[in-house]
Amino acid sequence: MTDAPLRAPVSALPPRPAVAAGAPDLSVIVPTFNERDNVAVLFQRLAEALDGVAWEAIFVDDDSPDGTWDVVKDLARRDPRARVLRRIGRRGLSGACIEGILASSAPYVAVIDADLQHDETRLPVMLAKLKDEGADLAIGSRYVEGGSSSSFDRRRQGISSFATTLAQKLLRITVADPMSGFFMIRRERFEAVAPQLSVQGFKILLDILASSRGQLAIVEVPFVFGTRHAGESKLDSMVAMDFLGLLLAKLTNDAVSLRFLLFAAVGAIGLIVHLAALYLLVSFTAVPFAEAQGVAALVAMTSNFLLNNFLTYRDQRLKGAALVRGLLAFYGVCSVGLFANVGVAFSIYGQSPVWWLAGAAGALMGVVWNYAMSSLFVWRRR
Ligand code: GDD
Ligand code: MN
Repeated sequence: MTDAPLRAPVSALPPRPAVAAGAPDLSVIVPTFNERDNVAVLFQRLAEALDGVAWEAIFVDDDSPDGTWDVVKDLARRDPRARVLRRIGRRGLSGACIEGILASSAPYVAVIDADLQHDETRLPVMLAKLKDEGADLAIGSRYVEGGSSSSFDRRRQGISSFATTLAQKLLRITVADPMSGFFMIRRERFEAVAPQLSVQGFKILLDILASSRGQLAIVEVPFVFGTRHAGESKLDSMVAMDFLGLLLAKLTNDAVSLRFLLFAAVGAIGLIVHLAALYLLVSFTAVPFAEAQGVAALVAMTSNFLLNNFLTYRDQRLKGAALVRGLLAFYGVCSVGLFANVGVAFSIYGQSPVWWLAGAAGALMGVVWNYAMSSLFVWRRR
C-alpha cells in the first residue's frame, strides 16, 4: 500500500480569499461569572454600537452556577456573532480573558465586562485608533480628561488610586489607568506577550503593560465607569492579594510566585499548629510523646491542606469527594516531603554541624517538595 496523504496538500485546496467573507474584524471578549441577566442586554448594546463592523462576541464563562453559559448558547443559536467558551473547574478573570483572546482569529480584540459598567459606545473609537492611527493598544480610561469613576464610593476610589500609583511606580508604567478592565489590542501583539501572562488574578491589562515593557503604542480613550446592571461584583478582599502577587511576580521577572509564597506561609502556620497540638496533648492527656507527635503532625497537615485549599489554590478549590481525595493525596505528599526534609538536614549536618542551617535547609527542601508535588497530585490543573 502506498502512503497516500491523509489530507490534500494545501496547494490542492481551492483558492480562497485572504480573509473569508464574514470573518470578524473584531472579537469582543466578555468574561462572565453569574451574569445571566446581563449578557443579552450587553449583546444587544454591542450590536447597536458596532453597527457596520464585522464583529463577534466571545463569552468566557467559568461554569457559572446561574447558567450564564446556557443563556449565551441560546443567544448563539439565534445569532452566530455570539459564542461561548465554558470552562469547568477553573476560576479567574485574567485566565478567562486570555483564553477568550486566544480563541479569536480576528485582527483586533477587545475585553469588556458583562455588567454594563464599561461604555460599549467607545469601542468604535478604540477600533479607529488601532485601525487608522496605528495604535497597538487602546485603553478605556477613567483617569484621563473626559473619563470618570464617579460611581465608586470614597473607599473604593481611595483603594483604586493607591493601587494605581503603586503599580505605576513599581512597574514603571506611565498610563493613567493600568487597572482598567476595558481595552482593545491587536491580536498579534497580545499573542506575543501571552506566554508571559499570569492566569491568576484579575489585572490582565496591568500584566500586559508590565510584560510588554514599553513596546506597545498606547492610547487612552476616556470613558465613564457606570454602575453595575444586574447581579453582584465578584472582586472580593482577596483581589488585593492577587494584585500584590502580580506586582511581586513582575518585579522578580516571574522568579517568585505568589502561590509558592502562600504555600510557604501556610507551612509556617502549620508549624505553629503542630506545636500547639503537641503542647495540648502532652500537657493535658496521657498520650505518650511519640503518638502525640504523630497526631500533632496529622492535625497540622489537615489544617495546611484546608488553608491551602482556601487560600493558595482558591481558583482551583476542591469540593466534596475531590476534597477527601485531595486530603489523602496531600498526606502522602507531605509524608514523603518529611523524609526529604530529614534526609537533607541530616546530610548537611553531617558536613557542618550547624543545627539551624541544617534544619532550615531541610525545611526548605520539604516545602519545595510539598509544593511541587501538591501541584502535580493534589491541586492538579484540569
Ligand atoms: N470567567 C470569569 N471568571 N469571569 C469573571 C470572574 C471569573 O472568575 N470574575 C469576574 N468575572 C467577570 C464578571 O462576570 C464581569 O463580567 C467582569 O469579570 C468584571 O467583574 P466584576 O465583579 O463586575 O468586577 P468589578 O466591577 O468589581 O471590577 C471591574 O472594574 C475594575 C476597575 O476598578 C473589572 O473590570 C476589573 O477588571 C477592573 O480592574
Ligand atoms: Mn463590575
